[in-house]
Amino acid sequence: MHNDIASASSSGSGVRVLFLDHSAALGGAELYLLDLAPAFAPPGKVLLLEEGPFYEKLQAAGIPVEVIIAPETVRRVAREAGPGSALRAAPGLLGLAWRVARKARAFDLIYANSQKALIVGSLAARMARRPLVWNLHDVLSAAHFSRLNIRLAVTLANQSVRLVIANSEASREAFRQAGGRPPVVVVHNGFDVQRFAPKPPEQIVALRQALGLPPGPVVGLFSRLAPWKGQHVLLEALAQLPGVQALLVGEALFQDEQRYAQQLRERAAQDDLRGRVHFLGFREDVPLLLQLVDVVVHTSIAPEPFGRVIVEGMLARRPVVATRGGGAVEIVRDGETGLLVPPGDVQALAAAIRRLLDHPEQARQLAEAAYQDACMRFSIEATRRRVWHALTEVIP
Ligand code: UDP
Ligand code: GLC
Repeated sequence: MHNDIASASSSGSGVRVLFLDHSAALGGAELYLLDLAPAFAPPGKVLLLEEGPFYEKLQAAGIPVEVIIAPETVRRVAREAGPGSALRAAPGLLGLAWRVARKARAFDLIYANSQKALIVGSLAARMARRPLVWNLHDVLSAAHFSRLNIRLAVTLANQSVRLVIANSEASREAFRQAGGRPPVVVVHNGFDVQRFAPKPPEQIVALRQALGLPPGPVVGLFSRLAPWKGQHVLLEALAQLPGVQALLVGEALFQDEQRYAQQLRERAAQDDLRGRVHFLGFREDVPLLLQLVDVVVHTSIAPEPFGRVIVEGMLARRPVVATRGGGAVEIVRDGETGLLVPPGDVQALAAAIRRLLDHPEQARQLAEAAYQDACMRFSIEATRRRVWHALTEVIP
């Protein structure tokens, strides 16, 4: 099907997409786009509003990419922006949208891949007279965003967006609850299944040595360090699991996350956890690290919009424990393809990890069923095809 998309594009009947993302960091939404974009670009292109590692990755993948640096006033409008900073950002925002609009005239549509891209994209789409598609990667609820932020996103979507592509039913449902009116199709993230194939055992032994891990069971949590990702819940569960080690893979990106990371480090240095928690920072070798761990845990205490790491664990044939809510319940069938525990429940998390470690044959069967299921439901080919069909509805 990838070939269908590619040939349709090169024969000129494909959709020329201008992807717009404000971020050049390697967050989940950007990693999703990195996998999606090759089916569309060229002739499509990715436009970023800052420089960073995502830019390098796109270039290395042969995807046309350009950066228009957003003015400082626009970049400072934080996630929880108030009316003051929004007002100061207005002139810079108009100028930025104008520059994006000039690029957009060479494309059939603008595809905003983040909320800030939605703000810029809604102005640019009007200026360039191009339809706007928004890929919604967030659950727009009070657990994640201020009321002002939600109202802004929904108002812009209602006024300017032709089609919303939501990363899960949960994200679609929250958008509807918040008053979102445009048509929504749900397209789950897709993955290159081969990336998560088993690795040679000597590579895993070498990695274990390089990380200085003593023998014994290891659980892995692959997420940026942020309060809502719930790493603290894992640390408390670990306190009840003597002898079990944890890899915390990911780094803190924002200011409040730095504080949280410090608190995690202090907790991990206490007697009952000392030496058992390994902070690895951001890693590029997640597929290899997945092969090293005995259990993959996901601990988000607010509904996870989708949860790439859950699928990645399944594709790596690891047993997965995830918190019930958001996209996780669309990915995992509890007791069949993984275990679901209530968010923030230390006892339940500890019990689920213990169950998997104490019953390796059960864990293996769970992981095998999960692998089969994930291959069928979350392939990159299927995701590219669904997005492509959705876009051809917008540009027939
Ligand atoms: N990831 C990574 N290196 C790290 C930590 C995470 O490459 O050190 C990747 C991980 O493999 C996953 C993505 O970052 O693909 C995180 O996406 P997810 O949807 O789980 O959460 P998000 O951070 O986007 O909310
Ligand atoms: C966002 C969400 C995450 C999702 C990713 C890709 O980063 O927080 O849950 O998996 O987008 O859609």
